Amino acid sequence: MDDRDEKLKIIRDEVLRLTISPLYAYRCDNNYVPVIGQGNHHAAIMFIGEAPGKNEAQQGRPFCGAAGKILDQLLASVHIKREDVYITNIVKDRPPQNRDPEPAEIKLYGPFLDRQIAIIQPRVIVTLGRFSMVYLMNRYGLDTLKPIGQLHGTVQKPHPLENETYAPIIIPLYHPAAALYNGVTKEILFKDFQQLQSFI
Ligand code: URA
Repeated sequence: MDDRDEKLKIIRDEVLRLTISPLYAYRCDNNYVPVIGQGNHHAAIMFIGEAPGKNEAQQGRPFCGAAGKILDQLLASVHIKREDVYITNIVKDRPPQNRDPEPAEIKLYGPFLDRQIAIIQPRVIVTLGRFSMVYLMNRYGLDTLKPIGQLHGTVQKPHPLENETYAPIIIPLYHPAAALYNGVTKEILFKDFQQLQSFI
């Protein structure tokens, strides 16, 4: 086990015991588990989704349901293996009925994501959907006034924050679930994914 494995395990243990979370009772009542993240702890590319769905909360793995199938197709289209990247979400527990994460939930789980990013230090962060896009762009002081319809597929290069030595390149993309029922969004996602080839 290297230093990163150890630090990520500490995060997992803290989230497991996160009884103050508004999603904790729902987790326990349904025998769900939190989804911390999965993949290479030395990944150059990190994908950040929104929150686990039902499949994910049952299995403890990110993107293992219908949206995950799309993500797998997207990764295959640029010859990236799942085991070479790191995949996580901003909110680590499933919100009831897959509703949007609430601001208080993002505020509570966000610092765990910040720590995962600081440990793995990926060269590129791909945000999937508007929640992780807004969170990351806000964190790095980037303009979040534009909608995802304008920002998707752009390559954002923030400066490191004060007291930090590192900042990732951020590429906002649509959420793969949006491609499930919208062929145009699916085409855009596949096109935007091509950007990743230059970061492998
Ligand atoms: N949607 C997400 O945002 N994350 C998952 O892990 C699964 C579906």
